[in-house]
Amino acid sequence: MARKPLVAGNWKMNGNPTLVREMGDALNKLDTDAMNVVVCPPSCFLPLFANTSFATAGQDVSANEEGAHTGDIAASMLRDLGCKYVIVGHSERRQDHGESSQLVANKAKRALSEGLVPIICVGEPLEVRESEKEQEYVEQQLLPVFETLSKQELSQCVVAYEPIWAIGTGKTASPEQAQQMHAFIRSKLAEQDSVIAEGTRLLYGGSVKPDNARELFAQKDIDGGLIGGASLKTDSFIAICQATQ
Ligand code: G3H
Repeated sequence: MARKPLVAGNWKMNGNPTLVREMGDALNKLDTDAMNVVVCPPSCFLPLFANTSFATAGQDVSANEEGAHTGDIAASMLRDLGCKYVIVGHSERRQDHGESSQLVANKAKRALSEGLVPIICVGEPLEVRESEKEQEYVEQQLLPVFETLSKQELSQCVVAYEPIWAIGTGKTASPEQAQQMHAFIRSKLAEQDSVIAEGTRLLYGGSVKPDNARELFAQKDIDGGLIGGASLKTDSFIAICQATQ
């Protein structure tokens, strides 16, 4: 089954209305038929992205439907702001806010219930990679997702593998390291359902740049990228999007 490439630019806590305008103008000129392009700005900028040819995403979502949860944002609100996707379980949320893998799974379920596609992030810290336990670590992160979502829900998800040691460090996983983990994740999905495994898009994230994107995206099980720093400049983000072709 052919999987359509997807490139998502996670601005994290960066950007301003000028970047919104520049990125919007640049991406609207990009031929996005052959790939899905997603911009994930801070949620306060989402209303500034109107009439775009690309999709937008939240960087996080509450696992709750509504109510007394100061600072959180509901899936229905992201949907009403035009989002099609939402990132859940980014390592910075797991680290800075103590998010467990069960909470991440609950967030994914809530997002799906409002029609959003969750981009579920997994990835190991350096010490786990050095002890060669990265597959066990990622499997543990995925288990609550498999236990919490129905197969129908699982089939709607995107999974992003982001080794923490590669995020914002300039140290990218080699294409072989990334492919190996992506193949492992796909094998775990296949244990749930082989058709879902074939159809699920798996993104790589961690210091993806225009000069390494093409080789990473050429790997059999890598269907695109979750881009941090390089998504903040129109030229580099567009070059990365084009590297999927
Ligand atoms: O969400 C994006 C990732 O954390 C990757 O960030 O491209 O700056 O390494 P980076």
